[in-house]
Amino acid sequence: MKLAERMSRLGTETAFEVLAKARALEAQGREIVHLEIGEPDFDTPKHIIEAACQALHSGYTHYTPSAGIPELRQAIADEISRTRDIPVEMDNVVVTPGAKPIMFYVILALAEPGDEVIYPNPGFPIYESMINFTGAKAVPIPLREEYGFAFDLDEFRKLVTDKTRLIVINSPHNPTGGILPKETLAEIARIAIERDIMVLADEIYDSIMYEGEFHSITAVPGMQERTVILNGFSKTYAMTGWRLGYGVMPKDFAVHITRLMTNSNSCTNAATQMAGIAALKGPQDDVLRMVAAFQERRDVIVAGLNEIPGVSCIMPKGAFYAFPNITATGMKSRALADYLLNEAGVATLSGTSFGAYGEGYLRLSYANSIANINKALAWMDRAIRGL
Ligand SMILES: Cc1ncc(COP(=O)(O)O)c(C=O)c1O
Repeated sequence: MKLAERMSRLGTETAFEVLAKARALEAQGREIVHLEIGEPDFDTPKHIIEAACQALHSGYTHYTPSAGIPELRQAIADEISRTRDIPVEMDNVVVTPGAKPIMFYVILALAEPGDEVIYPNPGFPIYESMINFTGAKAVPIPLREEYGFAFDLDEFRKLVTDKTRLIVINSPHNPTGGILPKETLAEIARIAIERDIMVLADEIYDSIMYEGEFHSITAVPGMQERTVILNGFSKTYAMTGWRLGYGVMPKDFAVHITRLMTNSNSCTNAATQMAGIAALKGPQDDVLRMVAAFQERRDVIVAGLNEIPGVSCIMPKGAFYAFPNITATGMKSRALADYLLNEAGVATLSGTSFGAYGEGYLRLSYANSIANINKALAWMDRAIRGL
């Protein structure tokens, strides 16, 4: 079969491959602790599930408008307006099956051969994959451990050129748990405005923060007009399998993103959208409970990792990932991740699954029980001491 040339430029998300390998080992009778997949281990709060069931029983079994059910778009607009202190209307919102399509559509709609797109590296692998897919040039901005996995602004300024079309940022950040300080956001905003560049702000972990306040680049005057906020329900409400996300963007751009929705999905699952309304408008206690649990696990995993010889880990400020530096083990990231899976029974991801600048690190998702985290730490410790 002859594939279109662009397919050779499409990347992937390694987490799903490691999960498959880990499951294959389990099928052979091995016990594996899963720290590879980035999803809350909690079930979706009950009142959200009830809302979806009720929606199905009351006839939400049909197509909806491509951009989403108006009541959900309005609830999202209200939420984003309240939490970012910016004016957002329903027409700024496009609802999608998961947040990932926003990444896909925005990069597809803006980038083309000859353009440059700056993206965080290490970073969510789909940014680089999609930029390459469009034929634009993917320009990595390295995230540096010494800056708490934010980036050096001098280095950033040097990467911006007349060809820069889009800047992708993600804070709180996957895979490092780092946060971009308010001053960094202000400088990115200043450059984006001066040079007429769009920003894709992946804010999917906005509710999962352990210190400081969440800052959105859209709060900087002049930025709402040139920013697409990517957000969704997967992480905050433990709804990864439901597939519900959204983008908040300038109204004229929302028209085009809606056209991409019409061409690809028609609309997002109707009952899932009704569940989203219940999530936003209902009690938020479960979210607070989950974040408190993640914080407790973060403290356990970071302390444990720092006890392992050759491993050091700074304290992540948000999301649910630890990103330990493993250079002193003497092993490369990929080899160590494979060794830990095969020898220790601990599934982790190589830092390089998130780009070349992830070399020297592993990503561990601590969305798992304290008992499993402690087990994984003990098994890793033993395996690494045995190197
Ligand atoms: C930074 C980041 N953005 C977007 C997504 C995609 O979220 P969704 O599952 O809603 O498509 C993820 C999921 O892992 C993520 O980590």
